[in-house]
Amino acid sequence: MTRRESDLATAFDADGDVDAGTGLVVPIADDHERHAEVSLRPSSLSTFVGQRDLVGHLEIVLGSARARGQVCDHLLFAGPPGLGKTSLAAIVAHEMGATLRVTSGPVLARPGDLVSLLSDLRDGDVLFIDEIHRLGRAVEEVLYPAMEDRRLDVMIGRGPSARAIRLDLGAFTLIGATTRTGLVAAPLRDRFGFVGQLDLYDSEELSAIVTRSASLLGVTIVDDAARVIADRSRGTPRIANRLLRRVRDVAAVREETVVTSTVATAALDLFGVDERGLDKIDRRILGLLCGPFSGQPVGLVTLAQACGEEPATIEDAYEPYLLREGFLVRTPRGRLATERGYRHVGRTPPGGGLV
Ligand SMILES: Nc1ncnc2c1ncn2[C@@H]1O[C@H](COP(=O)(O)OP(=O)(O)OP(=O)(O)O)[C@@H](O)[C@H]1O
Ligand SMILES: [Mg+2]
Repeated sequence: MTRRESDLATAFDADGDVDAGTGLVVPIADDHERHAEVSLRPSSLSTFVGQRDLVGHLEIVLGSARARGQVCDHLLFAGPPGLGKTSLAAIVAHEMGATLRVTSGPVLARPGDLVSLLSDLRDGDVLFIDEIHRLGRAVEEVLYPAMEDRRLDVMIGRGPSARAIRLDLGAFTLIGATTRTGLVAAPLRDRFGFVGQLDLYDSEELSAIVTRSASLLGVTIVDDAARVIADRSRGTPRIANRLLRRVRDVAAVREETVVTSTVATAALDLFGVDERGLDKIDRRILGLLCGPFSGQPVGLVTLAQACGEEPATIEDAYEPYLLREGFLVRTPRGRLATERGYRHVGRTPPGGGLV
């Protein structure tokens, strides 16, 4: 069990933290970092910046449930790490006046784990299953009747004397989160009444998040400095908040009372985050594609091994941004750096830049 899984199993706390998005901190945040992250979480839809379509749809779904005096439909949030899936789950519970219960796919190893969790839910509770794509098939099958008919079919005994008993469940809302929509089995996906896809944030939205977080942290920051941090945050609020904390550290050491763009730029340069938000793993990925593997499509596993990372980390945490910014492309035979990727690491593309 990874640290994230064991934390969730024991603490039933909000969120683990495994992405190494910035390279500024160790991949698993320590308690202090986690506490800082939780304290910056928006607590209502009105303080949740960006994702306008998704937020608009959620307002309708939640408003309608409240008007009917019923629990809200089951919700699935999908998107890359750090974009606000867990935050949204907490917001939904808060806006519905419900108790949030948190678990994750890998923690629910056996059907019995889920049965005991579900049978413990009270009317109105919100059950959040993080990494829902990692539920085993047998566990997933417990969820189907629970989601559809609020019922559990439990087998008692073994062999010829075994019999099924039916347990009725309270009215609950299931919220699933996944970084991999493609890995959520279709029968499970179809049982959610609403699927919300979160996209990377633009610079303006990230600036607003940095400004809000700075005020919560008691840091005075000018707009230009918030923009510098936003532009290096890979479209991801979690990274924006982390970079802000590191910039704050540098400002404190330098005894600067106001974070200016000069301080922010110097701090981010110091921590190895370049002007496009790429950290040393990103640059290693591009360096490999433009160096030893130049011109050849590279498979995910080979790339991950060469970078010393897990394939899932490369795919979930690094590629979405590199793809969006046009530094690499995925082809059926593997990944290739684009001309922009070559230029970023100071190399010439093979054939003068055909990719
Ligand atoms: N729209 C937003 N507005 C303000 N802050 C946000 C927003 N989205 C995310 N954040 C901040 O980013 C941090 C990470 O968000 P969150 O934990 O909800 O992401 P996640 O999608 O659940 O990530 P993971 O896939 O790794 O579990 C939060 O602590 C919060 O401070
Ligand atoms: Mg989360």
